[in-house]
Amino acid sequence: MSGNQRVPSQDISAQFINRMSPRAFDGQAVCESDLMKLFEAARWAPSCFNSQPWRFVYGLKNTDEWAPLFSLLMDINQKWASNCGALVAVLSKTVFEQSGQPAPTNSFDTGAAWMSFALQARELGLETHAMWGVMHDRVKETLDLPDDIDLRAIIAIGYPGDPSSLPDNLRERETPSMRKELSEIVFKGKYSKGM
Ligand SMILES: Cc1cc2nc3c(=O)[nH]c(=O)nc-3n(C[C@H](O)[C@H](O)[C@H](O)COP(=O)(O)O)c2cc1C
Repeated sequence: MSGNQRVPSQDISAQFINRMSPRAFDGQAVCESDLMKLFEAARWAPSCFNSQPWRFVYGLKNTDEWAPLFSLLMDINQKWASNCGALVAVLSKTVFEQSGQPAPTNSFDTGAAWMSFALQARELGLETHAMWGVMHDRVKETLDLPDDIDLRAIIAIGYPGDPSSLPDNLRERETPSMRKELSEIVFKGKYSKGM
């Protein structure tokens, strides 16, 4: 991505503003042992009752497991994700294992695990890009998912590539995205009150 113009409004660790979702990858397969470190980081996320609803299905570039995952991506995502080095379906168990009752926090918990995954990736020189642009009607069958496991996103993972390799319309988007102001998202005491 071109230079990071993100400026945090508070003094925070640089890792939070340096993480981005690039589309330019160098085409190299991700080393499987590095990918395991990302799953390991995700494994330590907090979850309601320590239920650990996150599940992952992965495929490394140039292996048999790649094509089914890649085939699930919408065209617009296939255009750039073809150059990433691994695809990971982030899945979430929607019921508690013990009781079989709905697990209302499963998405929240699995979202936390994905963030750990993404931040650990950067420590290894890898970038991540989540995708919801997926052929959702084919996910269950393609990945052989039971009824109580839902897809949350497919993640493209890889080593950074040259943005000039992207088609014009995607290259233009290869810049850091900005964020709402704290005053728009943080409220003191009650939602309507402001900071
Ligand atoms: C759950 C989720 C789904 C997303 N789906 C797509 C997608 O299908 N295609 C895409 O190009 N980007 C996708 N994104 C990337 C977002 O557009 C990106 O995270 C957002 O614009 C913020 O930019 P940043 O990640 O570079 O900070 C997705 C991100 C998330 C978290």
